Amino acid sequence: MHKQQLDSLKQWFAGYVRTFYTPDDDYLNNNIHLKECHTRRVCAEMRALAEALAMNADDALLAETIALLHDAGRFEQFTKYRTYKDSVSENHCLLGLRIIAEHNLLDTLESDEQRLIRDAIEFHGAKELPALDNRTLHFGKMIRDVDKLDIFCLCAENYRRFHEDKQSFVFEVEFPDAPDVTSAILDSILNNRLIDYRLLTTLTDAKLLQLGWVFDVSFDWTLRQMRDRGYIDGIMLWLPDTEATRKAADHINAYVAERLHS
Ligand SMILES: [Fe+2]
Repeated sequence: MHKQQLDSLKQWFAGYVRTFYTPDDDYLNNNIHLKECHTRRVCAEMRALAEALAMNADDALLAETIALLHDAGRFEQFTKYRTYKDSVSENHCLLGLRIIAEHNLLDTLESDEQRLIRDAIEFHGAKELPALDNRTLHFGKMIRDVDKLDIFCLCAENYRRFHEDKQSFVFEVEFPDAPDVTSAILDSILNNRLIDYRLLTTLTDAKLLQLGWVFDVSFDWTLRQMRDRGYIDGIMLWLPDTEATRKAADHINAYVAERLHS
């Protein structure tokens, strides 16, 4: 794939997103803006990860294309359903694939590149990656890592705002802000297991679910960024101080230190 192809996809993306802003609906505009900025940052993180992995130039372009298009379905999703929750709207990964097909975005690429991009996008939001060939898995892991890295950053910032000024919270809060931890969630963390969304009952549970994503990080580079940029601490800071949250935080910190050997 050529740099020119990525550049024209970037141009398409900018024009496409622009069509979703409206003159008088701030709630919609703010939410569209959130995902537009998320996409730009995920592209930048993807370039950094590709460099850290010493990928060749061609593969780095492919990786960035996946980053650029991974949330292509989000804009129509929010406009149509006014939510980013797949569970009450539709699967935004599949919606993205439909947008990509409708706009013939990948037509000039080799067919194996097209398939790889589509697979990586389709499964970027799945709880786990399915069985795929090694090359597709590699790109699938990359997009999942950089997507999580940016969501960690957003969450840390968002919890700070929530606890300082509840009015300025931009994410939807669907759980009561209670200190209780569902015991199955603590159990998952202590066993390095991913947490099922359906178990969530409090905002504290939701914070632990996000912290538990460290178990699904594939590349040490990503984990190091999460830790060294203070994102992990930035979420932990807003956990209530209870025996359960202390146990969970200690376990996660130990896991990260062991993986990064420091
Ligand atoms: Fe996504």
